[in-house]
Amino acid sequence: MSIDSKYLNMFRKSVEMGAIGASKFVGKNDKIAADQSAVDFMRKELNKIEMRGKIVIGEGEMDEAPMLYIGEELGSGTGQNLDIAVDPLEGTNFVAKNLPNSFSVLAVTEKGNMFSAPDTYMEKIAVGKNLPSKLVDLDFSVKKNIQNLADAKKTEPSKLIACVLKRPRHDKIIEELEKMKVKIKFISDGDVSGAISVADDNSPIDIYMGIGGAPEGVLSAAALCCLGGQIQTRLVLETNQIDRAKKMGVEDIKKKYELKDMIKGDVIFCASAITKGDMLDGVKVVDKEYYVSSLIMHKDNKIIKKTKNTYNM
Ligand code: FBP
Repeated sequence: MSIDSKYLNMFRKSVEMGAIGASKFVGKNDKIAADQSAVDFMRKELNKIEMRGKIVIGEGEMDEAPMLYIGEELGSGTGQNLDIAVDPLEGTNFVAKNLPNSFSVLAVTEKGNMFSAPDTYMEKIAVGKNLPSKLVDLDFSVKKNIQNLADAKKTEPSKLIACVLKRPRHDKIIEELEKMKVKIKFISDGDVSGAISVADDNSPIDIYMGIGGAPEGVLSAAALCCLGGQIQTRLVLETNQIDRAKKMGVEDIKKKYELKDMIKGDVIFCASAITKGDMLDGVKVVDKEYYVSSLIMHKDNKIIKKTKNTYNM
């Protein structure tokens, strides 16, 4: 079964509301208020949808009781059973400091079809579409992954561009990439758009690698499911996070997750830019009109579309 096509626009509107909520705090140096506003706006919209929706990836655990907590049920209580991953504000620093590439993002599958990842770190490696399967692997060396990709693309490692989050934990990866003369596009935050960029026709990025948030990894997987790229991930768990991960259903804590382990069946992915990004224009406000740009995708209906909408509020 597929997700009913009527839902795409409803979920689009939910991320657009999230983006509008966060946009009120652009450049105000207040990450928490920006996130809260995005959450409030998105949640209100999600609750209007005629669905039996459940948050599988959200703003935290039920005992912390944030809005959009993992397990929270949303929607009218009638309609399709859907699992939802939300990141109402991906790139809190970007909004706080008025920097590009912040988004309001969500992904939706049918019930039971999305990996309920704990809020921990995750190793990730992603490449674009039309490449042989199993080309790259988290257990290969950086050198082998890059050489495999260069061979598959019939090019030299020095012609490839790798996207990496600028963090000290990635120094070793960066050293290896530099040895092979691979060009590096550093990002300071926002690895959902980093990972997705491997499958974006307008982006020169060939590979994304490194450790970022696990929820962001599942959201990236949902997008790559629609765009046609590959991603492999593995949780990075501190000792005190293992029990929680097990409670959330992770049986093998060292498991390498392929795309199909994170997202099964049909998927909807929607992202609205808050600040201007590489892919989309940010929220613009003129008088009381909010102009919002979104990327919306529905796998089974083969929809990959950029939209612009205006709200008077
Ligand atoms: P927030 O929007 O929640 O601040 O996350 C931004 C982000 O850069 C993610 O895109 C990424 O997965 C994660 O943080 C990396 O975590 P850290 O900043 O701890 O290295």
